[in-house]
Amino acid sequence: MPAKIRKAVFPVAGMGTRFLPATKANPKEMLPIVDKPLIQYAAEEAVSAGITELIFVTGRNKRSIPDHFDKAYELERELEERGKTKLLEEVRGILPPGITCVYLRQAEALGLGHAVLCAEPIVGDEPFAVILADDMIAPKNGTTGLGEMVEVYNYHGCSVLGSERVPEDQTQKYGVVAAEASGERLWHVNGIVEKPAPEDAPSNIAVVGRYILTPHIFSKLAKTPRGAGGEIQLTDAIAQLLTEERVLAYEFEGKRYDCGDKLGYLVATVEYALKHPELKDGFADYLRNLDVDALM
Ligand code: G1P
Repeated sequence: MPAKIRKAVFPVAGMGTRFLPATKANPKEMLPIVDKPLIQYAAEEAVSAGITELIFVTGRNKRSIPDHFDKAYELERELEERGKTKLLEEVRGILPPGITCVYLRQAEALGLGHAVLCAEPIVGDEPFAVILADDMIAPKNGTTGLGEMVEVYNYHGCSVLGSERVPEDQTQKYGVVAAEASGERLWHVNGIVEKPAPEDAPSNIAVVGRYILTPHIFSKLAKTPRGAGGEIQLTDAIAQLLTEERVLAYEFEGKRYDCGDKLGYLVATVEYALKHPELKDGFADYLRNLDVDALM
């Protein structure tokens, strides 16, 4: 059995420009899907995959993220006094006992690769996960996206990239792999490029916001120059890693929502509302009776 995946890194220092002005003073990771912020879905996914240490790489304007995961004494007292037991349980149960949160500041926004490198002193010499909270993955058959990947990692003992086939005209939004089939939903990665134009893309298999990486990635990141968009790209360091180690791409079973994009965010909101125990009936009725054309 390879070393257990105990730690997950959440790079949350990005500016969220696609959601301005909503993200002017609030982090994009705190945007809610129905009644929970994106970062909470991401943290829950990590915890259900067996992770016990959550490492947030934060930046300016991100104080609400630690506040969200800290104990809120006044709020809990108020809910208790008002007898709001269910809400109290929800607020208290944001993270289960035994989970540690660590917050680091990325002093300069130099890119995703740089954010992951900032976490090296906390991750140390063990394999770890990286979760981009704006990619939301719905659990499938009781297993989360990262949960599926941890199973693949436990079996193969190498880095695993969460991936999805994307329409061929969208490769310029993603890290895209050159890969050969290596099993069901599994690809052996021979190359990876960040945001290639469709005509340059090696395939339409894109990396979507979930990574399991060996600690060897840190020495690669330390030597990675600025790449696409002038940023230090995680993708470029993975391109170096795979010259020395096996890297697999795994297509999850769960549906992915691109919540960094307004349309993807709305789709996630509608679909999660349709699964929400308290909202689903009323919301489904509303949608059934909605006269879309009359609103346009
Ligand atoms: C980042 C990564 C990219 C990946 C994408 C997934 O890009 O750099 O390789 O495919 O996340 O969402 P971003 O969306 O931050 O531009």
